[in-house]
Amino acid sequence: MSHPSSSFSSRLLAWWDEHGRHDLPWQHDPNPYRVWVSEIMLQQTQVTTVERYFERFMRSFPAVMNLAAASADDVLHLWSGLGYYSRARNMHKAAQQIVADHQGELPVTLEDLIALPGIGRSTAGAIRSLALQEREPILDGNVKRVLARVYAVEGWSGSTPNLKRLWSLSEEVTPVERVANYTQAIMDLGATVCTRGRPRCDDCPMFSICEARKRDLVTAIPAAKPRKPKRRKSVVMLMATNAAGEVLLQKRPPSGIWGGLWSFPELAAEGEVAEWCKQRLGGHTDKQVWQPVSHSFSHYDLDMTPVEVRIENESPMVMDGDRWLWYNTRSPAEVGLAAPVNRLLEKLDARKGEHI
Ligand code: ADE
Repeated sequence: MSHPSSSFSSRLLAWWDEHGRHDLPWQHDPNPYRVWVSEIMLQQTQVTTVERYFERFMRSFPAVMNLAAASADDVLHLWSGLGYYSRARNMHKAAQQIVADHQGELPVTLEDLIALPGIGRSTAGAIRSLALQEREPILDGNVKRVLARVYAVEGWSGSTPNLKRLWSLSEEVTPVERVANYTQAIMDLGATVCTRGRPRCDDCPMFSICEARKRDLVTAIPAAKPRKPKRRKSVVMLMATNAAGEVLLQKRPPSGIWGGLWSFPELAAEGEVAEWCKQRLGGHTDKQVWQPVSHSFSHYDLDMTPVEVRIENESPMVMDGDRWLWYNTRSPAEVGLAAPVNRLLEKLDARKGEHI
């Protein structure tokens, strides 16, 4: 049943030399900072999407110092569209801690890395192995799936006993030599061969040692996470445009969904629009209700009904200063916008073109 762990890593490395990914942007000059940023972006996000964001982020913030010194708006602007914005907020906070406590260099020990916001054991392991060539196991989603299949760890990979078992397997099979290549290789195998749906077992270097394959359990492992049905919420997104063609945006509170990003004012129902506009903006004309759009978050699905109104003579707003912005789509301020908000702004802008 079992096989020497060296067989696992030597098979994997031989496969990676020929079939792995060797030219990803973060593989060039893989210093701890670049590896950290790439690993955070790659959580929940595909490589092809991350590639563009990563290069742009690095041009703006080539080192921890630059990231630490930036404003939260600048950081979120470069993250706009990537989703899971707490990743960006945590990175920004962590960069400031690294400047305050570690002279602007990422710390090197597992313990100090894990103490930073947003860095868990697997990300810390990736930084240590990929950037520092330290023998350190990782356990991200891809690695969990590969190990669960090769060693037939049945059930959901996120259960406490399975996590314990998978960490211990990861520790066992991580080699001393070529650890950076090995770490990249196991992630690549999970992303390109040992995929969730339609794994390509015929092309897999683990074909002859994979317990799940031998027992015909490949599609059953890993089992899906036991889930409660998601809640649905609905809101009205108020898209108020003024005579200058600008759109009113509101900065969201720092925590919660889209924390620190700019969005449309949210109302509970369409019936609140008139009163809201009267109180805050002096009244509205031309109300148009758009087709609802939906967006999925990890804990709920949000149905958004955009309501477009025109504000002819905006009265001085009864609003506090820095949380409101008249946003000009033709010369946009560099702020963070969630993808659905950006899409609605683009539609609004396209319609404006039609009216002129
Ligand atoms: N997913 C997480 N980390 C990755 C990496 N370094 N390369 C490719 N995909 C990844």
